[in-house]
Amino acid sequence: MLLTILGGLDKDGRPEAVERINMVRGEILGIVGPTGSGKSTLIDDLEQFAQGDTSSRRKILIDGRPPEEAVRSDPRKKPVAQLSQNMHFLADMTVEEFLEMHAKSRGKGPEIVDRVVELANTLTGEPVRREHHLTMLSGGQSRALMTADIAAISDSPIVLIDEIENAGIKKQEALNLLAGEGKIVVVVTHDPMLALMTSRRIVMKNGGMVKVINTSDGEKGVFSDLLRVDRWLSTLREAIRQGEAVGAAL
Ligand SMILES: Nc1ncnc2c1ncn2[C@@H]1O[C@H](COP(=O)(O)OP(=O)(O)O)[C@@H](O)[C@H]1O
Ligand SMILES: [Mg+2]
Repeated sequence: MLLTILGGLDKDGRPEAVERINMVRGEILGIVGPTGSGKSTLIDDLEQFAQGDTSSRRKILIDGRPPEEAVRSDPRKKPVAQLSQNMHFLADMTVEEFLEMHAKSRGKGPEIVDRVVELANTLTGEPVRREHHLTMLSGGQSRALMTADIAAISDSPIVLIDEIENAGIKKQEALNLLAGEGKIVVVVTHDPMLALMTSRRIVMKNGGMVKVINTSDGEKGVFSDLLRVDRWLSTLREAIRQGEAVGAAL
């Protein structure tokens, strides 16, 4: 699958500097830019498969063509899943009931439920159990569950994530899980670790895509440094929790 964004217009009606972006499965693409620069609008364009009919006039293509009308109008045919900051479950069922129902609707057997619960537990420190009620889950638990559900049950090849910095889940693991399942992951983030996990990031300004930065080898080096700092912080946190004194060296 090839997902294409064709540039439209910025807030002043000027053509976007970035005219075309192609994405393939397994790729993580970032979107960065200050508040009001148009990041969420770009995510919305992708979610709706805009065809020159939104404020940005962008067009989204699948395999080089506009998707069929049914893809835009029928939620079951929509190849997009969105992981948002606020996850609300409408029905009060247990985790198990929800997952069994979703698996069934996607033609998958009940055995997948174990895998989803297991995956969810790799993404959050607060345990997620089959018998938990959806409406009682914390923000972190519900996002972990939704991420695992998208990775294992939903067939959506495209996953959109708009700012999950405070999601209460292990964000890197979540991105790796989704990309590893062969999804196209588009993530709005300013978290340096997440931004540097992407292969490229689109820079937004005044409603337009102004450039694309490829994650360079130098930046990948920064990412490894950040990983070490991150692990060190976790070690310190744990030592302090255990009532131990901590050393100075990294
Ligand atoms: N290309 C565009 N053309 C016209 N209006 C736009 C465009 N991009 C964004 N906007 C408008 O600008 C405002 C801020 O955009 P938004 O996507 O919410 O920014 P961000 O998520 O970066 O904070 C919104 O009201 C949005 O409708
Ligand atoms: Mg936004």
